Amino acid sequence: MKRIGILTAGGDTPALNATIYGAVVRANQLRIDVFGIIKGFSGMINPAMPHVHLNPLFSTIPELNPCLGGTLLGASRTYIDPDDQPTINAVAARLDKLGIDGVICIGGDGTINGMQPLAQCFPTVLAPKTIDNDLGLNYAEEANEWLREPGSQPGKFKYRKLDGRPDINLEEMINYVTPGFATAVYVAATGIQRIRTTAESHRRIAIIEVMGRDSGYIALGSAYGQPDIILLPESPVVYSHLERRVRELYELQKHVVIVVGEGVVDEQGNQLGAVSKSTDPAGNVVFSGAAEHLKSMLVKSMGNEYFTSKRRNESADSAIFTRKLGHTQRGGRPILFDRFHAAQLGGKAVEVLAEGQNNMVVTLQCTQKQGFYVDSIHANRLRDQWGVIHPRQMHLSFYDAGRFQPSKLGIEYLLPIFTNAIGLDDMEDVRVELFHSGNLTQRYQSVNVDMQKRIRVLQ
Ligand code: F6P
Repeated sequence: MKRIGILTAGGDTPALNATIYGAVVRANQLRIDVFGIIKGFSGMINPAMPHVHLNPLFSTIPELNPCLGGTLLGASRTYIDPDDQPTINAVAARLDKLGIDGVICIGGDGTINGMQPLAQCFPTVLAPKTIDNDLGLNYAEEANEWLREPGSQPGKFKYRKLDGRPDINLEEMINYVTPGFATAVYVAATGIQRIRTTAESHRRIAIIEVMGRDSGYIALGSAYGQPDIILLPESPVVYSHLERRVRELYELQKHVVIVVGEGVVDEQGNQLGAVSKSTDPAGNVVFSGAAEHLKSMLVKSMGNEYFTSKRRNESADSAIFTRKLGHTQRGGRPILFDRFHAAQLGGKAVEVLAEGQNNMVVTLQCTQKQGFYVDSIHANRLRDQWGVIHPRQMHLSFYDAGRFQPSKLGIEYLLPIFTNAIGLDDMEDVRVELFHSGNLTQRYQSVNVDMQKRIRVLQ
């Protein structure tokens, strides 16, 4: 293998540059050229296939900084249509023309589905990333626990997860955790701690919405910020139970902090945050407001009287407030756990390609004996019987729905990831960089400006 391509697809995460960095460092050792394709699959579909040589003379370009969030290659949610054979052939021909022997796609479930048509005619490997932590399986057979039903349009289908194992063994998880998740939880937990003091001082109920789509891992991990109530998409909200707990806590501590995963559902399985379809091949949806919806339910059922009877001057509407942590969870410097493991996965992806394997996924495994280590599996092991790769949901045994908190197993799951997840250098970076006097006098230096100077196109 002489030259590989690398791209970042789907939503950005803090650890993308770290994965690219790990890949380039390993490629330098193996004397392999790495070409970064600009803006994910849209760069491949573009006849000019804009690209950047990331390691001329096998030395890493200085713009590739593993501590920088985002991706120096740019990302997009454009994917290759699996039925569009002419485009797939054109992409393969362009990669050939550039002398590329294999491609590493850094992405999540949308990317791996989008990679499948390309893997039919070109060696590809997926290096996982997603703050949602939803790429992988709780146990190997889980890929086959799906039911397909006709969708609302002809030729379209709906997939429903069948009940699986009631308990899982953490050591059997395929891809224990994805780069980006730890940093997102770090941001969520600190955000919750900060919002808490306002709720506490003003006797309010704070509803904080975290990302994660249909997977509740970020909400689960947000337990580190000690919210009083955690609501997850995997566990339908029993409203009467929730309201009772809110009242109990409000009586006791005069404020309540609720964390809600954006994909949370009611007892009928309806998503609380209204949704619209996005275009990625995983059929992901855009969530617009689970926290707002929950607020209106609490305002209606608790009413102004409840709050005025507590000698508060505020109406229910102002006593209950919502905040979305939003894209702060996806941005900025990755914490040590993400940086280190993302780089390992990037390096492993190069090795797997160099060994001549195709359509593989590199994974981060965890056992008590070995701790974290990188491995790889064939993408087919993640596909259901119709070929679709579904986002992993958090296993219900990680959650104690009675207490609205992580269960014992959920805590066991989180501990190896977060104990020592933050490096001393992460703290030092805040101390030195945030209030650096130069920030007041110098404009932000975007990596895009320097990368633009390096972009080449196919003639
Ligand atoms: O999949 C990652 C994610 O951040 C989800 O948690 C969230 O729902 C979605 O992407 C938001 O996507 P966008 O940045 O396109 O709005």
